[in-house]
Amino acid sequence: EKGNYRHFMLKEIFEQPTVVAQTLRSYLRPLEQQVALPQIDFDISGVDRVTIVACGTSYYAGMVAKYWFEQFARVPVDIDFASEFRYRQPVLPEGGLALFISQSGETADTLAALRHCKAEGQTIAVVVNVPTSSMAREADLLLPTHAGPEIGVASTKAFTCQLAVLAALAAHFAVKKGRLSPAEEAEIVAHLLEAPACLNAALAHDEEIAAMAHLIAPARDVLYLGRGPDFPLALEGALKLKEISYIHAEGYAAGEMKHGPIALIDEAVPVIVLAPSGPLFEKTVSNMQEVRARGGKIVLISDAEGLEEAGEGCLATIEMPSVHPLIAPLVYAVPVQLLAYHVAVAKGTDVDQPRNLAKSVTVE
Ligand code: M6R
Repeated sequence: EKGNYRHFMLKEIFEQPTVVAQTLRSYLRPLEQQVALPQIDFDISGVDRVTIVACGTSYYAGMVAKYWFEQFARVPVDIDFASEFRYRQPVLPEGGLALFISQSGETADTLAALRHCKAEGQTIAVVVNVPTSSMAREADLLLPTHAGPEIGVASTKAFTCQLAVLAALAAHFAVKKGRLSPAEEAEIVAHLLEAPACLNAALAHDEEIAAMAHLIAPARDVLYLGRGPDFPLALEGALKLKEISYIHAEGYAAGEMKHGPIALIDEAVPVIVLAPSGPLFEKTVSNMQEVRARGGKIVLISDAEGLEEAGEGCLATIEMPSVHPLIAPLVYAVPVQLLAYHVAVAKGTDVDQPRNLAKSVTVE
């Protein structure tokens, strides 16, 4: 069922506009310009602290959500890898909400963390793609993603659908906390509804990204830089590249480069910079210039405005549509997925079944 696609991963990348729209449909009321969770018998307004637990790509979706929950709802968020959370004797707040994010709903560490939180009296919310999974069954508040079955080991469409749900949840939370006016809520809904078209616009760069894969394929190390909600995207980009192309890659918060990793930079290390124009753009660009001054080769992913300002002298650029910062993490996921995909194809690896990995990690 790969259709005309060479791999499931590519098919799933291209399904994103459709499945994100599908997911948003069950969280937004476009006519009323409101957010609406599928299950509303839980009063989220009493929650004063959120604990997010997940693994891998789902963890990075949780990292993005932390920015959103704190920015919109002004509620503090703790986030941890499930495998760390379980063993660090976390202090859980009374009446707290524990949020688990998982494509499969079966990841052993995440499931064990969920059971621990349940035993500790937390309310359990789950963002999950498999509706029949253990996590879905054990949740108090089930927030399904409607990505459809994800076959490729590298998670793609599940991630953007998780982000769509988490953005809606953050907005709902903010409304219930009295932090968003109806006009602000309407604005958020409008921006989220722009996501599918913007994902399509990002996908239109597929061939161009395929053509630049040979620039990255010979590298031994690759760095990804981002700031704010796009910092987790840098981590996600690095994870995607590692897992399917076997190139060592690291994601860094752009401002953290000069505290060590900049020592790695030379002509042989491509640096992928995720920098949508917006409040953090100038800061990220100045970190990019520091890299360039050390001979680093930059691939800048930005919009027309950003590329106009900082695109010159880069090894390559990828132009994204101009988007509201809220949906930038969804849209910028596409070029990092495509870049990893095409580099892996160029290297001839088994894209859908990379070595040493399983789709669902059910061992601890
Ligand atoms: O099913 P889950 O979302 O709980 O899986 C978590 C990770 O195992 C998963 O995201 C993994 O990191 C992917 N292979 C990343 O592409």
